Amino acid sequence: MANYEDIFKKVVSHAKEYGYVFQSSEIYDGLAAAYDYGPFGVELKNNIKNYWWKSMVNMHENIVGLDSAIFMHPTTWRASGHLDAFNDPLIDNKDSKKRYRADVLIENHISKIEAKIEKDCVKAAKRFGDDFNREEFVSTNGRVLERQKKIDEINEKMNSSLSSGNLEAVKSLVEELDIKCPVSGTNNWTDVRQFNLMFKTQMGSTADASSDLYLRPETAQGIFVNFLNVQKTARMKIPFGIAQIGKAFRNEIVARQFIFRMREFEQMEMQFFVRPGEEMKWYEYWKEFRMKWHQSLGIGEDNYRFHDHEALAHYANAATDIEFKFPFGFKELEGIHSRTDFDLKAHQEFSGKKIQYFDAEINESYVPYVVETSIGLDRMFLTILSNSFREEELENGDSRAMLKIPAVLAPLKAAILPLTKKDGMPEKAREIMKSLQTDFNCQYEEKDSIGKRYRRQDAIGTPFCITVDHQTLEDNTVTLRDRDSMNQERCSVEKLHSIISEKVNIAKYLF
Ligand code: GAP
Repeated sequence: MANYEDIFKKVVSHAKEYGYVFQSSEIYDGLAAAYDYGPFGVELKNNIKNYWWKSMVNMHENIVGLDSAIFMHPTTWRASGHLDAFNDPLIDNKDSKKRYRADVLIENHISKIEAKIEKDCVKAAKRFGDDFNREEFVSTNGRVLERQKKIDEINEKMNSSLSSGNLEAVKSLVEELDIKCPVSGTNNWTDVRQFNLMFKTQMGSTADASSDLYLRPETAQGIFVNFLNVQKTARMKIPFGIAQIGKAFRNEIVARQFIFRMREFEQMEMQFFVRPGEEMKWYEYWKEFRMKWHQSLGIGEDNYRFHDHEALAHYANAATDIEFKFPFGFKELEGIHSRTDFDLKAHQEFSGKKIQYFDAEINESYVPYVVETSIGLDRMFLTILSNSFREEELENGDSRAMLKIPAVLAPLKAAILPLTKKDGMPEKAREIMKSLQTDFNCQYEEKDSIGKRYRRQDAIGTPFCITVDHQTLEDNTVTLRDRDSMNQERCSVEKLHSIISEKVNIAKYLF
């Protein structure tokens, strides 16, 4: 069996070969951690955005949208705490000169111990067969308990050192665990330093500090500063939410794993404003709702898990990640944060403007509390891409690479293929294309053999291929081929619209 690195490499090269994702500025040898989305990538991205927007905005009477500017007044970032606290602890290896995030080095060490626990479980499952009870095993087996104790100790040390800003203790932990640089293989480390992740730029022609601007590191602040504009103009009553999709920028120290960690990326965020004291109820609500949203795509419940934060960001009183099983392991896909009234209060203080809501039901004014859901669009894209990639051996000895993308998100819904370029087949195929393309993104393709065209559409992830042949001209039927089963059936042209619609209809997925 291929290991995860091989699989991941294949996913990345497939994404390039089939027009999903290209390295940015490739002709200049690329720019690290920046990527461009190709013809099918942009369609998949748009479909993911639509799937999120429909469920979060259109299907919630009490959530409205916003599209705020990337540039914001620089005081925004002082108020939000990003200027002081949006830092990563970095450490360099003196021999390889490579730079790392100290917390990531420690987390990777923990992952290795977790992998050992996993191995213990696999072995035990083999030994005990049907009698194996994982929960019981991990809570009683001596070796597993010891490993888990070690993980808890490391987490505890790391979190307390980070939250108290004790960078010397972080370095000591790296040394104590004997973590080595993957490049030089040595543990010759520099001290740990804080590094602010915001990109700085300047507005206008003057170079004085007052014109310093930052590229936003999260879209959320655009929502906070517009809280009253939106609440008043859309006449929203608490509890209500404001959602937006947009670019965010972070000068990540270690940006890797393709589009998983980029320096320019997109977020889909929603801030839900609630009465003080009710935030934990809504935090639980949004945890459950967002998990259901992920699972509605049908790509395997076991591929998701919650990971509650022990070390909290400067603005949060509770936080969890929805993690997805990427080819390189379970990693954060989405964050759900109870942000208290930190941001609105800070903007009130720094702007000198009152940011309060009068709650007529309880006859009280207050600064609302906030529960946020925040998902990276590019990570969601990688979730879909990596989960849908398959290489299959076929019964006839051929093989095919395919993307089993959920039909609702697939960039192309159908390919219309005349069997040959003559006898009126292209004209008939174009007529069918015209009847479908206002509702479904379709592609007309007449080059190459029909088998080759099927393979290409499988590789793009197109759920249906519609083949126009001689019989079509006689009885107005086509061959409809299903991507996943490769079954082909004869079907009348009049039925195509409803068959495709049935398969890709968003209402069939969303709950
Ligand atoms: N407003 C809250 C916030 O930004 P976060 O956990 O830092 O919280 C939210 O980010 C989501 O944004 C993450 O779960 C992830 O999906 C995505 N994200 C964060 N940094 C990213 C990066 N460098 N590249 C791609 N996606 C990123």
